[in-house]
Amino acid sequence: MTEARITVNGKETSISPAAPHTTVLDFLRERGLTGTKEGCAEGECGACSVLVARPGVNKPTDWVAVNACLVPAAALDGQEVITSEGLATVGDPGTPPALHPVQQEMAVRGGSQCGYCTPGFVCSMAAEYYRPDRCAHADPTDGAEAHDGTEVHVDAEAHVDAEHGPNGFDLHALSGNLCRCTGYRPIRDAAYAVGEPTDEDPLARRREQSPPAAVATEYARDDSTFLRRSTLAETLRVLRERPDAVVVAGSTDYGVEVNIRSRRESCVVAIDRLPELRELRVESDHIEIGAALTLTEIERRLDGQVPLLAELFPQFASRLIRNGATLGGNLGTGSPIGDSPPVLLALEASLVLADADGEREVPLADYFTGYRQSVRRPGELIRAVRIPLPLSRVAAFHKIAKRRFDDISSVAVAFALDIEDGTVRRARIGLGGVAATPIRALATEAALEGRPWTAETVEAAARVLRGEGTPMDDHRASSLYRSAMLGQSLRKLHAQTTEAVSS
Ligand SMILES: Cc1cc2nc3c(=O)[nH]c(=O)nc-3n(C[C@H](O)[C@H](O)[C@H](O)COP(=O)(O)OP(=O)(O)OC[C@H]3O[C@@H](n4cnc5c(N)ncnc54)[C@H](O)[C@@H]3O)c2cc1C
Ligand code: FES
Ligand code: FES
Repeated sequence: MTEARITVNGKETSISPAAPHTTVLDFLRERGLTGTKEGCAEGECGACSVLVARPGVNKPTDWVAVNACLVPAAALDGQEVITSEGLATVGDPGTPPALHPVQQEMAVRGGSQCGYCTPGFVCSMAAEYYRPDRCAHADPTDGAEAHDGTEVHVDAEAHVDAEHGPNGFDLHALSGNLCRCTGYRPIRDAAYAVGEPTDEDPLARRREQSPPAAVATEYARDDSTFLRRSTLAETLRVLRERPDAVVVAGSTDYGVEVNIRSRRESCVVAIDRLPELRELRVESDHIEIGAALTLTEIERRLDGQVPLLAELFPQFASRLIRNGATLGGNLGTGSPIGDSPPVLLALEASLVLADADGEREVPLADYFTGYRQSVRRPGELIRAVRIPLPLSRVAAFHKIAKRRFDDISSVAVAFALDIEDGTVRRARIGLGGVAATPIRALATEAALEGRPWTAETVEAAARVLRGEGTPMDDHRASSLYRSAMLGQSLRKLHAQTTEAVSS
């Protein structure tokens, strides 16, 4: 039996006697930190949002909001967590704590009614408040002043639209938080009113130091163990020695299984902090993305270099989920409705698979073998995703779902096309939600290549696209609807590209 300790609101606390599958949410509430709420226990509502100190993109440390209901407490051994209680500053005995600027704005702008969702909103809002490059995108024309008296920093690179405030606040930071009673306008008002952190703000200052290092963990209780090794080689040895071991990265799929389906594993091996799985390299002929980088990290580090991925990320779940979710996990589940496989198929990506004997590279097109099955062997994990360069110039990702954000795809279509002098020279199309596995639309690609990019070609190819795969009827969509959406998707792409050419 070993220990695991988390620093919560500045105080180090043992997670004992929690079971290895106990979530951060349950651990916090059992310690009396009941500001962190359980709404759904499956990553949908954000009531459980907390801040974790993680390696930063523009500063040594970023405060990252995650769903505490999905992450095992043992996974945060050695890490720092801030809850809604920890955001307020405790004053002298007998005096109430001073509200944090985001709490203050939520209070004065009526952003909280029953208050159940509020701590979660406040934590997601605080993560965006501390995002280092937020104020670089503030609107120079807006002289708003926050209630704490701080001024909104202004910058020439203003980017204000329906989803970005004059203070640079990206509303997508709140896309994983639901509120039943306030209505979202006062919450948005609060978000758009927060100023810049002051120089004395301890959490802003904390960003200048390195985040806590990942620590090797062996936390065992009863007949179950949570393990974290420091290197890939040690991890792969464990996977070889323990055939019962299950790897977990961001836990956004695994955590749902634990909570909703009572999944209990005898040995869980964390891979999310392994340095070998967290590299991002742009080479002359390919880009290699570590399988354990979170989608938020990839999005911010690539910064639009792969336009198809840049289209995917905002449509993938919510910011809270993307802060934990990894490409390795999305491919590891083998789900036919995962959103990254169609995109990676269109990009002709391959996977670097690693086990204790070494590595091999497998084209993604050959990876899936059946419903939630793949060529990955026992003891093998996905180390990285490789995307060949150069990229096709026309790229689009169409996710057809019931809601615009934070929903599962009924159908997903990814296009990567090269169109030169009005002719389609090369077409790669990835599809999700229309077969037992994600697939390439090979017949449609053939119907496009070598033909003029005209309405006639597109109409003929759309008929072929409608026949790709074997779409099913289920509670999300009928097979007819799915087929129809495939055809529509190609027409939409044509309309978008011809609009772009004529404008
Ligand atoms: C509210 C919510 C919304 C979601 N929305 C979307 C969405 O819009 N689109 C979408 O595609 N998915 C969505 N998901 C599913 C999930 O977030 C993704 O599949 C995510 O990419 C999983 O990554 P993870 O690191 O959290 O995986 P984990 O939960 O840690 O692991 C998932 C599985 O993959 C395996 N695995 C993890 N890493 C590796 C690796 N490197 N090598 C081999 N196997 C590995 C694990 O063993 C496990 O079986 C959503 C989930 C939730 C809870
Ligand atoms: S409790 Fe709903 S997202 Fe965690
Ligand atoms: S204030 Fe009641 S759920 Fe948001």
